[in-house]
Amino acid sequence: MALRKIITSENPILRRKAKKATKIMPELRALADDMVETMHAAPGVGLAAPQVAESVRLFVAELEASEENPGSGKTYIIFNPEYVWKSDEFVDGVEGCLSIPGYAGEVTRHHKVVVKGLDKSGKRIRIEAEGWLARVFQHEMDHLDGVLFTDRISDPDKIWPIKEGEEEQVGAERAAVRAA
Ligand code: NI
Repeated sequence: MALRKIITSENPILRRKAKKATKIMPELRALADDMVETMHAAPGVGLAAPQVAESVRLFVAELEASEENPGSGKTYIIFNPEYVWKSDEFVDGVEGCLSIPGYAGEVTRHHKVVVKGLDKSGKRIRIEAEGWLARVFQHEMDHLDGVLFTDRISDPDKIWPIKEGEEEQVGAERAAVRAA
């Protein structure tokens, strides 16, 4: 495994619509493993392939294990993710992005989503996510369509620079501030 370089928002790769993985070849499995390692090192709770300059429909996610967060403590690797269902219920929450370092913002997301896709072995998977995990999934799936969290904020007051040390103070939001 190897760390990959995370590209930032001025790089046009982040604005491309990523391509589906037609077959999960060994190099794509290696990419997924590298992305998990890169996410851990950042540290972050999610990472999409375009963020490491690979325009492929793949993301990884992992929330630190916590009773408050359903689906936490597991590593998700999802190729070709698609929404099966999105809740009518929306929630506001603070997000950040490893490709937009130094900024956080308040984004409205579906409270729950059901996502289907392929795992590392090419097997079909279907995951129900709610709360922070659902937020991370939506943030990462946006990356696959060239959408950044800042695109989802119309009110400029809802995006702000993160001050040094502030990440530690935001507590539950920290995970989101480091979203990916
Ligand atoms: Ni991001």
